[in-house]
Amino acid sequence: MPVNSSSSTTAQVQINLAERSYSILIGSQLLGQSLTYQQLPKAATALVVSNTKVAPLYAAQLTQALEAHYAKVLLLTLPDGEAYKDWQTLQLIFDALLQNGCDRKTVLFALGGGVVGDMTGFAAASYMRGVPFVQVPTTLLAQVDSSVGGKTAINHPLGKNMIGAFYQPLLVICDLDVLVTLPARELRAGLAEVIKYGPIADMAFLDWIESNLDALLAKDSAALAHAIQRSCEIKAAVVGQDERESGLRAILNFGHTFGHAIESGLGYGAWLHGEGVGCGMVMAAHLSQRLGLVDLSFVTRLTRLIERAGLPVKGPVLSATDNAGRYLDLMRIDKKSEAGEIRFVVIDGPGRAAVRAAPDALVREVIDACCA
Ligand code: NAD
Ligand code: GLY
Repeated sequence: MPVNSSSSTTAQVQINLAERSYSILIGSQLLGQSLTYQQLPKAATALVVSNTKVAPLYAAQLTQALEAHYAKVLLLTLPDGEAYKDWQTLQLIFDALLQNGCDRKTVLFALGGGVVGDMTGFAAASYMRGVPFVQVPTTLLAQVDSSVGGKTAINHPLGKNMIGAFYQPLLVICDLDVLVTLPARELRAGLAEVIKYGPIADMAFLDWIESNLDALLAKDSAALAHAIQRSCEIKAAVVGQDERESGLRAILNFGHTFGHAIESGLGYGAWLHGEGVGCGMVMAAHLSQRLGLVDLSFVTRLTRLIERAGLPVKGPVLSATDNAGRYLDLMRIDKKSEAGEIRFVVIDGPGRAAVRAAPDALVREVIDACCA
């Protein structure tokens, strides 16, 4: 639904979750305008959580805008990177909240990519058993996926996102202007999550991405705005039906079972999350084909698009002795696993996804065929 903000057109996507419903605003010049935040609940204090890369770029704009609404606006700057999505860094948020006497009305603002968003959300879910928080995502990946839907988490050395909570934000602000400073590699990683929405839910969107990929890679703002809006609409529809992933929501993890194994197997931060997801979607598409659910032309089409987006399509070798065995071991530590059985998101027809187990022998064939 397009709406007008004071300076430009802003799109709004609604997440419908009864009393936990909220809006995602998508547009330009949102982050630094006090108007953007005027509907939020009143409180004495706001804590902006960011990191060493994003804070110097955007924290001043955000804190100035928030000063119109909060007597005290604090800024906490965390170390940057997936390797810091852990207990020790999470503790820094609790330290700041307690050291500054923050009460249960304090509003947390997550200013950064998915790492800052996931950690701030988890801190908000648990500080004083829950304080309000707002997502201000600054990567494409966070704008199309991680800031929306209320999954919050930190990593454990043995498994990605294994410790966390479902906790919805009050508002998500996707300001297109921040993407100007986003490095090309991070933009491509975000495109992996955009591409994901096509095969699982909307083949017309996949067609659109294929036709507009060059514009997206060139950061054309109209193309980015459409990609973010459509991605958020699809995610909103899924989360609105299955907030806590008792079934349907798992389709949003297409490519993630293989991708998470790559991320944790190589050590967090070696491959970007979106790179793992891009390559993981190629592997999951091959698995779908070997299970007889899609034909090879579908796998080739998806692989070609992921490659054009500048993402890896060959998995890394995680073990010189038993590579497939290492992938299988890592994939067993997954929230979708049941009684040690790995469950994969597969494509069971263009624009449709399902969750299936698969024989280890077949998964081994896929890994052998897909690793460089
Ligand atoms: P990230 O948060 O590490 O950000 C990527 C890099 O870009 C970082 O160095 C960051 O500081 C920098 N950066 C951010 N915004 C910038 C900007 N505007 N200009 C310049 N640099 C900028 O990574 P990400 O890709 O945003 O998120 C990945 C994380 O999100 C993973 O931990 C993943 O597990 C999580 N995730 C969560 C969900 C969910 O539903 N909660 C969904 C998908 C991914
Ligand atoms: N990124 C997957 C989910 O939000 O469910």
